[in-house]
Amino acid sequence: MATTQATPVMDIPAHVPPELVREIGLTTGPEFLAAPHAFMAKLHETHPPIFYSVNPLIGNSWCTIKHEDAFFALRHPEYFTTAGATPFPRDPNNYFHFIPLEIDPPHHRKYRAILDSTFSPQSVLRLESYMRRLSNELIDGFIDAGEVEFTTAFGRPLPVSIFLDLMGLPQEMRDTFVGWAVDLLHSQDRMTAGLAMRGIEAYLAQVIVEKTARPDDGVISTIIQARPGGEPLSEREIFGFTFFLFIAGLDTVFATLNNIWLWLAQNPDRRREIIAHPDQINAQVEELLRVFSVTFSGRTLTQDLEMRGVQMKKGDKFNSILPACNYDPDVFPDPTRVDFNRPRKPILAFAGGVHSCIGAHLARLEVKVALQEWLRRLPDFAVRSDALISYWPGGVVGPKSLPLVW
Ligand code: HEM
Repeated sequence: MATTQATPVMDIPAHVPPELVREIGLTTGPEFLAAPHAFMAKLHETHPPIFYSVNPLIGNSWCTIKHEDAFFALRHPEYFTTAGATPFPRDPNNYFHFIPLEIDPPHHRKYRAILDSTFSPQSVLRLESYMRRLSNELIDGFIDAGEVEFTTAFGRPLPVSIFLDLMGLPQEMRDTFVGWAVDLLHSQDRMTAGLAMRGIEAYLAQVIVEKTARPDDGVISTIIQARPGGEPLSEREIFGFTFFLFIAGLDTVFATLNNIWLWLAQNPDRRREIIAHPDQINAQVEELLRVFSVTFSGRTLTQDLEMRGVQMKKGDKFNSILPACNYDPDVFPDPTRVDFNRPRKPILAFAGGVHSCIGAHLARLEVKVALQEWLRRLPDFAVRSDALISYWPGGVVGPKSLPLVW
């Protein structure tokens, strides 16, 4: 692990104590990419609860690995704003916010209310039979082959198809959408990410025009037709809302499934445990989401604040490393162990507070249905013996490919 000597010192504000500065290569460095979840769990042994991460690729920020501190940041928007908290570049002359994430309360409520009922537990249940059918159709496509590349044949098409359906977008766009999401979230190259951004912008702009003229019952039309406070959203708001759903809803479920299936393939006893206790499926899903959470939560300080004796200043960036917070031994003893009988505690996979993930019920249901249908038809499988597992860099953590055999 690099020390403070390797850091570009000029970017570190004077109020940051040198002993708290670390360059850990979060989301980008070789140690992280070799085994990201183990890396984030180990931070509890090697790092102070709050430290200052220096990262030339994604920028410098305070980082917390404590469950309690992340919840504090998520529940106190008066100290922690989401404005400008996402890493995606935008044209300053044609700026738009990623809605609802980049809007602070109280304005946030007006946007969130537009889709709360679409993503409620009852509403997403309506998609369950479609999810089961789709899971089985995908499995039909490869079950007789005795092998599959999981990420492209199941992990990706399942959530992407559900998402496109929900949004009211055509299934033929599946591969194009996946390509954009990969370039935007994982290329680590501004030019590639910028091109993807422009591709998405152009496509969504055209879709919004079409759906304004001919609304359907998909989410994009719901946003277009919303009248919060009696007024429609502006074109830029509709665009920023739709665009953010695309960023938030595609890659996260995909990465989650890929991480879980890698673990299932490597742990036959634990797989059999899941199959033997079908009545515990919800607890199993929750525990797997805790251990394999995939993303982070970025904020900016709105005022000076001291936490755990660390003095932070207005304007500093603050990152809750949610996967590490889910390994906080003070909350989850023996944290890296997958324990389906753990006492129930709130997990941070979907963050918390006003910006807690609107898609959480949908994502939980997708993971549950995928587990049930896959394990019913393919209870025994393993990682192909010559497979080399490597991980995507970037803000959504998951393996790049996962060849399975049975
Ligand atoms: C396993 C899958 C998923 C994970 C791990 C996940 C994780 C998260 C996290 C951590 C946040 C909070 C970010 C922050 O506070 O900075 C968030 C917010 C959000 N997510 Fe998800 N997400 C998942 C799936 C989805 C899906 C399927 C959708 C929609 C189709 C979605 C839509 C959103 C939206 C709109 C927000 C912003 C909510 C707000 O600002 O009020 N997510 N998600």
